[in-house]
Amino acid sequence: MSFDFKFSAFGEKLEQKGGIVDLMKDLGKALNEQTSMRMMGGGNPAAIPEVQSVWRKRTVELLAEENNFNSTLVNYDPPSGNPKFLSAVAKALNHEYGWDLEQKNIAITSGAQTAFFFLFNILAGEFVNGQKKKILLPLAPEYIGYANQGITQDIFTAQPAIIEEKGRNRFKYHVDFEQLKICNEIAAICVSRPTNPSGNVLTDQEINQLSEISRSKKIPLIIDNAYGNPFPGVIFTEATPIWDEHIILTLSLSKLGLPGTRTGIVIGSEKIISSVTAANAVVGLANNNIGQALTLPLIESGELINLSRNLIRPFYKERMLRARSYVENAFGDTIPYKLHESEGAFFLWFWFPGLPITTIELYEKLKERNVLVVPGEYFFFGLEDQWNHSHECIRVTFSQSENIVKEGIKIIAEEVSKSYEV
Ligand SMILES: Cc1ncc(COP(=O)(O)O)c(C=O)c1O
Repeated sequence: MSFDFKFSAFGEKLEQKGGIVDLMKDLGKALNEQTSMRMMGGGNPAAIPEVQSVWRKRTVELLAEENNFNSTLVNYDPPSGNPKFLSAVAKALNHEYGWDLEQKNIAITSGAQTAFFFLFNILAGEFVNGQKKKILLPLAPEYIGYANQGITQDIFTAQPAIIEEKGRNRFKYHVDFEQLKICNEIAAICVSRPTNPSGNVLTDQEINQLSEISRSKKIPLIIDNAYGNPFPGVIFTEATPIWDEHIILTLSLSKLGLPGTRTGIVIGSEKIISSVTAANAVVGLANNNIGQALTLPLIESGELINLSRNLIRPFYKERMLRARSYVENAFGDTIPYKLHESEGAFFLWFWFPGLPITTIELYEKLKERNVLVVPGEYFFFGLEDQWNHSHECIRVTFSQSENIVKEGIKIIAEEVSKSYEV
């Protein structure tokens, strides 16, 4: 028997079609059931053998430390995270960047994804005086994972990027500061750096300018550093991380090869951290502590940062360069395409100017040929006006094995070429 239970507005919103829910289902299905599918859609980290062996070694060490292992399993951590881990992260970042973080500036969440759900809904949405506030994304396209996170409707407003075309086949996005309007409705500014999906890295000048704007307007600037420095360090340009009382910086252990441990790290002012801590307690009592236990000694010794610099970054840079060369070979001079500059993260971001079909249609055609990518449309939420560019881009992950990426790119080139012929 099936019951037609009625859901709240929040329940109905969670059920909405499209975006992260469908994407995660498609990706999960491809990973677990469809072994022939070429997985070029998700943000899964690559299985880097040397890095995986570090996690296996650490697991063995943890098992051998009887007291530590037992207490890791048997105890709920405090809702802000394991105190030793918080203190190690504070020390490591202070040492690296000369900041003055204390434990009270850091909270752990169940993955950075959960941190964003908390932060967006703590800062934006409906206020007790009835006012409604939004999160400003100053550079669209932006991370699909934010899109459905508001408990109330329409918590995002986004500003289209300026496109700088670089030669025949390259381009780069910039923040359009002239158009950026920070009215009373804006609760916070949020950027991912490196940006998922485009692989853009906001320049130091852009990030400092955003920081100045947010400081002067007395609103937080949220910087999503899931791929950034000092760990996992998947960033191929010069970019200095920043932190200050008005900045909320998030990190994650996922892209180090530990997404299964669900460990996000939020760095912010005491007020922000207490409120994220309260959210942890209300929603989940405490966090998963295995990721913290595995990485703690490597954070204390500085080895995690070395691992990021010496193994993880070169690995992804090499993958990115190879993927770009497959693109050049497969697309040649005849099929129109442009690639965003790959400055960080795991993705090639294609732009097919004037593509006669939507990229959701292109996604379906590719899925039929066992290639899974992410249609660009999903990354342009919060825009006020229709923008053709949003129907002309796809995100392709290069973290999978060479064969998959090579074959996948060849098939993408064939399908794009057919689409232009329609
Ligand atoms: C830009 C960005 N932010 C946050 C996340 C969420 O990461 P986590 O696995 O820590 O929840 C992801 C995951 O892919 C991401 O790409």
